[in-house]
Amino acid sequence: MYLTKEQESLLRAGGARQKAMELLVKLGDIYGAEEMVPVGSAQAAGVSYKSIGDPGLEFLEGFAEEGAKVSVPTFLNPAGIDLIDWKDVGFPQAFAEKQKRIISAFRKMGIVLTASCTPYLLGNLPRYKEHLAWSESSAVSFANSVIGARTNREGGPSALAAGICGFTPKHGLHLDENRKPDYMINVEKKLETSSDFGLLGNYVGGVVKDKIPLFTGIKRASTDQLKALGAAMAASGAVALYYVEGLTPDSDWDEKLETLEFGDENYEKTKDVLNTGEEPDLVVIGCPHASITEIRKVSRLLKGKSVKKPLWVCTSRAMKVWSDKMGFTKIIEKAGGHVVCDTCMVVSPIEDMGFKCVGTNSGKAAAYLPGFCKQKVVFSSLKELVEGAS
Ligand code: F3S
Repeated sequence: MYLTKEQESLLRAGGARQKAMELLVKLGDIYGAEEMVPVGSAQAAGVSYKSIGDPGLEFLEGFAEEGAKVSVPTFLNPAGIDLIDWKDVGFPQAFAEKQKRIISAFRKMGIVLTASCTPYLLGNLPRYKEHLAWSESSAVSFANSVIGARTNREGGPSALAAGICGFTPKHGLHLDENRKPDYMINVEKKLETSSDFGLLGNYVGGVVKDKIPLFTGIKRASTDQLKALGAAMAASGAVALYYVEGLTPDSDWDEKLETLEFGDENYEKTKDVLNTGEEPDLVVIGCPHASITEIRKVSRLLKGKSVKKPLWVCTSRAMKVWSDKMGFTKIIEKAGGHVVCDTCMVVSPIEDMGFKCVGTNSGKAAAYLPGFCKQKVVFSSLKELVEGAS
C-alpha cells in the first residue's frame, strides 16, 4: 500500500500512535487497499463493559496510559449504563464502577463522550462524500445512506486507530465502484410508523445479508424512519448502505437488479417472527437513540398518565438537555418513566436486572434482544407500546 511520508513516520512514532498505524496498515493489506484516505471523524465502539469485559477495559486503560490521543473529532458509542442516573435506573454498582473506568480511558484519549449511536444528531454531521471511520452499525448505515458519506463498518479498534491517525485504508464503501445496489426491493405495503420501517429493515437485512438494497415504492419517510430502517438491516443482516429511490442521495440507478417484493404477507410473517413474548416487563423506546421528535411523542402519550411497568426512553445526554428544556422529561418522569441516557436496552445488563421480556418498536433491538440479552420480545409501534404501559 502506498503511504505518504507522514504516514510512514507514524510507523516509527513509538507508543500508541505506532500501534494504531500498524493496525491500519495491516487492515489495509488484508483488504487490498492501495492507499489511506483522510477521515473527517471517527466513531469508537466497544464502549459497554458488557461487550468488552475486563480484557477490553484493561486494553483501553493501557492504551490511554501509553499516550493514545485522537487527532480528528472522535465520538463515542453508547456505554452500558446511564453515566449519571445509573443508580436511579437500577444498573448494578459493580458494573457501573467498571463502566466508569472505561469512560475515563476514552476521555483521556480526547474522545468526545457522546455515548450515543446517533452522532449525526449531536454535532457530528458529516457532509456528502466525506470519508469517515465509524463503527456503530446503525450510524454507519445512516451516514452512508441518508447523508451519502463514505464509511466502512469499522470495528472498535480500527475506528479508534483511525481517530488517532486521522485516516483509514481506502477500500470497501470508500470506493464508488463498491457502492452499487445489488437488489431492488419493491415496497408494496404502505409503511406508516417507524416500527413499520424497522420491520421492513429486519426482513430485508435477513434476505440480502451484507449486500446493498435499493428500495422503490416508498413515497415518504422521516429521518427517524430512515434511521429505524437502516438500523434494522444492519442488525438482521450486515447492510451498511441502502438507497431509497427519490429520498436518499445517489438513488438513481438504471441497472437491472434482482427484485424482491415486500407486501402484506411478508409484513405479517415478519411481525410473527419478531414477537416472541406476550407481556413486556420493560418497555423501551429509542433504538437507535431517540430524537427530540420521538421523545416528544412519548411525552404527549404519557401526559397526565402513570406507567404500570418500567418504561425507558433511551437517548443521548445532549438530546436530554433539549427534552429537559421542553418539559418532556418532566412529563415522562411524572408518569413514572425514565429518560435513560448514554446507554440502551441492548448494551446495558438488563438480563441481570430481572427483565425477561422487552417491548420495543425497533427492528434492530428485536433482532438483538433474544441472543444478546436473553429477552423475549413484544414488537409494536411506539404508540401501542407506550399506551400499553400506562
Ligand atoms: Fe443504539 Fe443500542 Fe440500538 S446502541 S442502535 S440503541 S442497540
